[in-house]
Amino acid sequence: MISIKNVKKIFSTKSGQVRAVDDVNLDIAEGEIFGVIGYSGAGKSTLIRMLNGLELPSEGQVLVADNEVSSIKGSKLRKARQEISMIFQHFNLLWSRTVQENISFPLEIAGVDKSERLKKVNELIKLVGLDGREDAYPSQLSGGQKQRVGIARALANNPKVLLCDEATSALDPQTTDSILELLVDINERLGLTIVLITHEMHVIRKICHRVAVMEDGKIVELGKVLDVFKKPQAEITKRFVQQVTEPEETKETVQHLVDLYPNGQIVQLAFVGDSAEQPLITNLIRNYQVTVNVLQGKISQTHSGSYGTLFIHVDGEKDEVAKAIEFIHSENVGVEVISHD
Ligand SMILES: Nc1ncnc2c1ncn2[C@@H]1O[C@H](COP(=O)(O)OP(=O)(O)OP(=O)(O)O)[C@@H](O)[C@H]1O
Ligand SMILES: [Mg+2]
Repeated sequence: MISIKNVKKIFSTKSGQVRAVDDVNLDIAEGEIFGVIGYSGAGKSTLIRMLNGLELPSEGQVLVADNEVSSIKGSKLRKARQEISMIFQHFNLLWSRTVQENISFPLEIAGVDKSERLKKVNELIKLVGLDGREDAYPSQLSGGQKQRVGIARALANNPKVLLCDEATSALDPQTTDSILELLVDINERLGLTIVLITHEMHVIRKICHRVAVMEDGKIVELGKVLDVFKKPQAEITKRFVQQVTEPEETKETVQHLVDLYPNGQIVQLAFVGDSAEQPLITNLIRNYQVTVNVLQGKISQTHSGSYGTLFIHVDGEKDEVAKAIEFIHSENVGVEVISHD
């Protein structure tokens, strides 16, 4: 569906040249939810803007839905853009228009007649869950509802590709989840290809099939989300994975735990995409003469398994504790023994 070939984007600024996108090659399949993650300035927006022709590459080729977006112009480009929609962090709604009128806008531009417009708008309002709010103005809506309008408007012309530039970054965690669920629903129902960029790993974990990690204009890692979570290669990817597996507060309290449990061992277990924490602990207790206490941690369940960190305290005879820890190591979970002995 999308093919990016040897693409570079170089901006000339007063202070010199900026390589915003530096030799990127990427293929995204039809129906895929593809995530691009990177820190600020990595080149994510520049890359995604080349997919709908808002930016032209300095070098290379961009193909989307059989159109060479990087070379077509004028009416051809406008037509191609109807197949490539976009939603934004700050929604970009028309403030003087109601929900219904906002969603209708791209249909008016495309010259769709009034009765058909109304029909389509009503369908879209149902699809994004805004029934009853048709006549509200954007200023009367919550952030999540505004983004639902953004999504409905983006879907008006039956696009093949939906681009999302930090579409949930202005929303609280719960609203983020509901918008992500809506995107999954749309992807499954309409078979829409979705490319989303974010700096939050939980967004990737929650809905993406594959992910590319960007740093300094380059793709430094690319793969299936689960594989990347399990075996992050690049340093930057490891940091992103930690966002999900290691809540900040746990690090701070580790020393406290060590002081609290002078005997035995404190072990930090990291689970990435395995539903293994229950059997692991059951087996520990069953097969070794040790006591196991779960001290703290956070595990979140997703469609691709559980992610998170658990701190456990393993106590007993020194030999048994050592055997138990050896067993944990053999179980293919991330293990770090923290306390002294
Ligand atoms: N129009 C422009 N002119 C000059 N430099 C630009 C332009 N647009 C982007 N850049 C530069 O290109 C680099 C990549 O910017 P880009 O907006 O793609 O990053 P990003 O990954 O989307 O960051 P963020 O997470 O902050 O949105 C940055 O160094 C930026 O300053
Ligand atoms: Mg950006």
